[in-house]
Amino acid sequence: MDALECIKTRRTVRKFKDEAIPQETLRELISAASFSPAWKNTRVARYTVITDRAAIARIAAQGVLGNAHNAGIINGAPCLIVQSAVNKLAGYEKDGTPSTVKGDGYTMYDCGISAQSLSLAAHALGLGSVIMGIIDYDTIASIIALPEDETVTAAIAVGYPESIPACPPKYTVDEMARFI
Ligand SMILES: Cc1cc2nc3c(=O)[nH]c(=O)nc-3n(C[C@H](O)[C@H](O)[C@H](O)COP(=O)(O)O)c2cc1C
Repeated sequence: MDALECIKTRRTVRKFKDEAIPQETLRELISAASFSPAWKNTRVARYTVITDRAAIARIAAQGVLGNAHNAGIINGAPCLIVQSAVNKLAGYEKDGTPSTVKGDGYTMYDCGISAQSLSLAAHALGLGSVIMGIIDYDTIASIIALPEDETVTAAIAVGYPESIPACPPKYTVDEMARFI
């Protein structure tokens, strides 16, 4: 699969087969994420790869703000990857002052790019994934004993797809861009 095909055929997958993902495949996902561009190459994105069923069940029960939809996805996934970020590096000068008016925004910007690299790598390797933002960041941080200088940014469920949804509406080039 070439890069454009990978980008255009990746879908958010929310239903997974009951099949474990080999450790080397999980490591390949993180390796792909590590090649993402990053603000001044600060590389703030971090990952906690969870295959322990008890930990996954605890996050589904306590870490989704009562959102039954996301709880169901997490409980049905063989692996949950929690993305976190090292605080106050992306978008900041070495002395800790923000480099631009976007302030802390580049932390999420860089983590978004990193999550997309991981999602595309998953697709290329025959896996499906869903990035979840409706989660309780602090509760998940506590469940996984996240280091003090990091903040949870997203949870990404990964597995072999049970079914692949149809492509939802996307903008055409002319709806999305102006050429001047
Ligand atoms: C930052 C972010 C947060 C998201 N949060 C959730 C979520 O909490 N639950 C969920 O089911 N999907 C979530 N999604 C997946 C989107 O709903 C999905 O990407 C969108 O509907 C487009 O579908 P596609 O990825 O197949 O193109 C999220 C996606 C992103 C990028």
